[in-house]
Amino acid sequence: MFNPTLYHKANSLQRRDATDVLDKYLHLVEWRKDGKDVVLDVGCGEGDVTINILLKRLPIDFHSLTGGDLSVEMVDYAKNIYATDKIDFVLMDIVAEPKPEHINKYDHIFSFNCLNWAQDQASALRSMYNMLNETGDCVITLVAKHRIFDIWKLMSEDPRWEQYMRNTDKYISPYNNSLNPAVEFRKLLLGAGFKNVKVQVKHKTHDYIGMKNYRDSAAAVNPFFKDIPKHLHEEYLDHFMYITGELGYLEEDNNGREKELIKTNYSSLLAYASKR
Ligand SMILES: C[S@@+](CC[C@H](N)C(=O)[O-])C[C@H]1O[C@@H](n2cnc3c(N)ncnc32)[C@H](O)[C@@H]1O
Repeated sequence: MFNPTLYHKANSLQRRDATDVLDKYLHLVEWRKDGKDVVLDVGCGEGDVTINILLKRLPIDFHSLTGGDLSVEMVDYAKNIYATDKIDFVLMDIVAEPKPEHINKYDHIFSFNCLNWAQDQASALRSMYNMLNETGDCVITLVAKHRIFDIWKLMSEDPRWEQYMRNTDKYISPYNNSLNPAVEFRKLLLGAGFKNVKVQVKHKTHDYIGMKNYRDSAAAVNPFFKDIPKHLHEEYLDHFMYITGELGYLEEDNNGREKELIKTNYSSLLAYASKR
């Protein structure tokens, strides 16, 4: 996720997940009476979802929209394309203590497919709680389980890749092996102090149109890619696709269609919580 240009082209799953959670929980968000909402998108990536999905759903007179992300590349890309007088992008690690200027600041925090990258869920949720003002609320979606994590695990044991994939566990969703991600996440939200907690896990299938799109998207979210020498990128992706096929994780479907559909199965967690 250090290549914003590739991510921008290959984020169809993330766009759909963001839309799904907003369809489900946006009606619970308590907008300010004066319409001047102060909004944060945690793990905003290259800004596409922030601007093309979230922004459209904010009150027209919103006060400000901030995208926060750990990645310098993502923040720079988003800033260059989307920043305005009311919209900004800043570096932020949601697991760390929030900077003083973010504390008690936001009316609403949104986070789309970012929190699954945080191994310390309790700290991330505590930070979000502390960045909300006393009536604030949040809408979250994250990847609970995905077969891509099994593939990374297997690849990290291959002598060709192990040197680049030493810390694989750091990038696997904390809920990948959980028997009940919804119960666990609810407990964590309550533990952070949130009220009115709603959590749901949805089993989803996502269709990629054509193998190339699937391959691009696998590269775009691969945290190890930046450490793999460029001349090995294609070999690495070939191996990724080979394992995916061997494990039977892809269903190809070109039945009567011009382009084959590549189907992936995963579980998405959707949540709403507030401080009031
Ligand atoms: C899969 S992308 C999602 C981007 C965007 N929200 C979307 O839906 O397209 C995950 C993003 O979370 C960011 N991220 C990962 N860990 C983070 C952390 N601890 N604090 C803030 N951002 C983080 C990554 O840099 C990446 O841009």
